[in-house]
Amino acid sequence: IAYTQGQEDFKGKRILISGGGTREHLDPVRFLGNPSTGKMALALAQAASDRGAIVTLVHGPIAPELLSLSPDYKLISVVSADQMEAVIMSHLVESDIIIMSAAVADVKPANYADYKLPKKELPTELKLESVTDILANLGTLKKNHQTLIGFAAQTGDIVNPALEKLKRKNLDIIVANPIDQPEAGFGTNTNQAIFIDANGQQKNINSCSKLELAHRLLDFVKIKGISPEQ
Ligand code: CTP
Ligand code: CA
Repeated sequence: IAYTQGQEDFKGKRILISGGGTREHLDPVRFLGNPSTGKMALALAQAASDRGAIVTLVHGPIAPELLSLSPDYKLISVVSADQMEAVIMSHLVESDIIIMSAAVADVKPANYADYKLPKKELPTELKLESVTDILANLGTLKKNHQTLIGFAAQTGDIVNPALEKLKRKNLDIIVANPIDQPEAGFGTNTNQAIFIDANGQQKNINSCSKLELAHRLLDFVKIKGISPEQ
């Protein structure tokens, strides 16, 4: 088997994973969102718990058929970026590794109506506010023993924007993800990526299942020595 199965090389490590897309509601039935399905985060949670980690997955709305009935990890469901931020902050101190694979909104509607707006009342222009950058906040709060991993879903050149985000958000690793490739990105069962660490070292991962990519990412974390002391 290609994966590192049966080997509990992350035993006892606490890993906090975010996944799926957040939704920023304008009213109870309308929102700004994105096509993230949460499959990459579910694969990460599965891989990490199979390797002995104690995993918490905080996720935006995920199709029920993708969720395992009895997962080996803790699932916390949220809707908005603000809610995701609150859950992540409350789990931060105890976490050894934090992996932000969620597609978090950058903006939210400035106003929320708590009733369904009749279409006649819908604004013709939407006033937006920016959303907190959760990962950038984590980068300022990170302790030395913690490993912080971000994702950068990019089109076109993936390496330079990912490097810029790695530095700007004070990350240990960024997963540069080419979402304009047919076998990568939103909703697919496969993915491809370039892992980049804070020293600029890169590892190219060709198209493979999201589960395998998750295992390769854990291998990369381990090789960096930034995680489990055995
Ligand atoms: N992220 C976050 N909070 C946000 C936006 C992004 O924590 N409000 C995280 C994502 O989970 C991801 C990383 O930041 O791990 C990079 O997200 P990305 O959208 O690529 O970066 P941005 O800084 O938002 O830049 P842009 O959208 O302009 O490319
Ligand atoms: Ca963004």
